Amino acid sequence: MKLYRAKDYKDMSRKAANIISAQVIMKPNCVLGLATGSTPIGTYEQLVEWYKKGDLDFAEVKTANLDEYKGLPRDNEQSYYYFMNSHLFSHVNIDPANTHIPDGMEPDAEKECSHYEEVLAGLGGVDLQLLGLGHNGHIGFNEPDEEFDKLTHCVNLTESTIEANKRFFEKEEDVPRQAYTMGIKTIMRAKKILLIVSGADKADILYQSLCGPITPHVPASILQLHNDVTVVADEAALAKFAK
Ligand code: F6R
Repeated sequence: MKLYRAKDYKDMSRKAANIISAQVIMKPNCVLGLATGSTPIGTYEQLVEWYKKGDLDFAEVKTANLDEYKGLPRDNEQSYYYFMNSHLFSHVNIDPANTHIPDGMEPDAEKECSHYEEVLAGLGGVDLQLLGLGHNGHIGFNEPDEEFDKLTHCVNLTESTIEANKRFFEKEEDVPRQAYTMGIKTIMRAKKILLIVSGADKADILYQSLCGPITPHVPASILQLHNDVTVVADEAALAKFAK
């Protein structure tokens, strides 16, 4: 595992974007596994800036996102489809046909999850998977659990996730109760993983994830077993690590 210390959120975003750019330059038709949430926004902004300067080309890049809310149409501002378009896809020359996100409007969970695994297999697997870290150690929508080994599946959102997400919706009833997510097993199949973490509120869980016991109660702790993980975290998130 490689750990890069960034000064702050901006520096973390720039370092992460550098790693993603290197991947795209080395393999122009690579498959990027992408995440949503607040952590990667700066990384996507930096990638867009370099694309606009002519330093990056997404013409052959393929992407597969980690997760999507079940029941939210693509044009809903809270859908991850909408997020990816507004933060990255609509600003670069990626072919929309090469972008993949679970279809939140497919009501048949089993059908959608097995279809998504087929899509990933058809792409030849993910070359570089970008991950954020939840406060409870979740990656994707894989919440603390009793077991690790799941492929793409449908999750019931926990009360705390619904509570945390309700600020983005008009009414609490509007917050989706379920989501489709790549499972831990799916994530671990990526050839390389890039975990980005920012902020003092993530310091404890980052330390537990990287230095604590490997347990499904801290889903990100499984990353200790992956053979190519790069972590880029800022000073605040690395507060528990010796300098
Ligand atoms: C997003 C995702 C989540 C987030 C995590 C951290 O696609 O799968 O696991 O990465 O909840 O979210 P932020 O970055 O908002 O702190």
